[in-house]
Amino acid sequence: MNAGIIGIGRCLPDDKLTNFDLEKRMDTSDEWIRTMTGIQERRIAKDEQDTSDMAFNAAQKAIEDAGIDPSEIGMILVATVTPDQPFPSMACMLQEKLGARNAASMDVSAACAGFMYGVVTGKQFIDSDVYKYVLVVGVEKLSKITNWEDRNTAVLFGDGAGAAVLGKVSEGRGILSFELGSDGSGGKHLYQDEHLVMNGREVFKFAVRQMGETAINVLEKAGLTKEDVDFLIPHQANIRIMEASRMRLELPVEKMSKTIHKYGNTSAASIPISLVEDVEEGRIKDDDLIVMVGFGGGLTWGGIAMRWGK
Ligand code: COA
Repeated sequence: MNAGIIGIGRCLPDDKLTNFDLEKRMDTSDEWIRTMTGIQERRIAKDEQDTSDMAFNAAQKAIEDAGIDPSEIGMILVATVTPDQPFPSMACMLQEKLGARNAASMDVSAACAGFMYGVVTGKQFIDSDVYKYVLVVGVEKLSKITNWEDRNTAVLFGDGAGAAVLGKVSEGRGILSFELGSDGSGGKHLYQDEHLVMNGREVFKFAVRQMGETAINVLEKAGLTKEDVDFLIPHQANIRIMEASRMRLELPVEKMSKTIHKYGNTSAASIPISLVEDVEEGRIKDDDLIVMVGFGGGLTWGGIAMRWGK
C-alpha cells in the first residue's frame, strides 16, 4: 500500500484586499494586475492572526477529515518562510496546540515548493512504516514580509494555510511518483532581505520551463503519459505560468486548478488550499490521476503524481 492523503483542511483570513484597494495605495491598476498575473484579490491576516494560528486552524480540519486522533500523528512538518519567529518551529507550536503528544516536529524551508517537499518527506516515513500518520502544513503570512512600497511584488502575494494528513491508502491509490529539485545559483532572483525581493522576469522564465518539465518527469516516473492526467494543480503564482504548464500537458481549462484570482500567491499554502477547494467542489474525484507541481525561492521545485482517494 502506498502513502497518500487521507485528510485535508485549509484556512483563509477573512479580510480581502482587492486590486482596487491597491490602486489607492500605489501606482498600479486592476487592469495591469489582472492581465499580468490573473489576481483580483488576496486575503490578508489581521495582526492577531499569525502563521501558527492559520496552521492550527487548517491542521485541525485536516485531522478531523482524516478521522484520526492527534496522538496518532508520528510527525508534523510545516512548510513556511514566514514563521511567527525563527524558533521554536511552527511544527513544535502546532504539536502543542494540537496535543499531538507522540509527534516529532520540524519546519521545512523550500519557499513556494515547501508543501511538495513536506509531502515527499512525510511519504518516506509512511512507506518505511516508521510512522502511521504524518501531518503536513503549508502556511504563509506573506503580508508580514511584503514591501508595500514595491509595486513589483506587493500586488502578488496573500496569506493562508492548507494541511494534509498522510497515511496508507488503498491499493493503486496514493503518491505514485515525485520529483524534487533545487538550483541555488538562482537564489538571488527571489529572497528575503528585510522584505521579499524578486526579479520577476528571471523567476518567470525559470517557472515556465521547470513547471512543465517537472510535470512531465513525474508522469514518466509513474509510467504514465499526459493522456492519463485528470487534473493539474500548479502552484498559484501567476496565471500565465499556470497556463504554460497546462498547455504542456495539453489539458483543457477545466482540468486545471485555479484559485489565484481569489487568493493571489500564498506560497507554500497555494497547492493545499487549491486541493481542498477542488475536492470540496467536486473537480477531483476518487481514482482521478492528479499532478501537483510547485516552484519557488531557492530556487526550488517539486512535483507529485497521485491517484486520489483513501
Ligand atoms: N502595476 C503596474 N505596473 C507595474 C507593476 C504593477 N504592480 N509592476 C510592474 N509594473 C510595470 C513595470 O514598472 C514595467 O514598466 P516599464 O515597462 O514602464 O518599465 C512593466 O510593468 C513591465 O514590468 P516587468 O517587471 O518587466 O513585467 P513582467 O512581464 O516581468 O511581469 C510579473 C511582472 C511580476 C507579473 C512577472 O514577472 C511574474 O509573474 N514573475 C514571476 C513571479 C513569481 O511567480 N513569483 C513568485 C515565485 S513563487
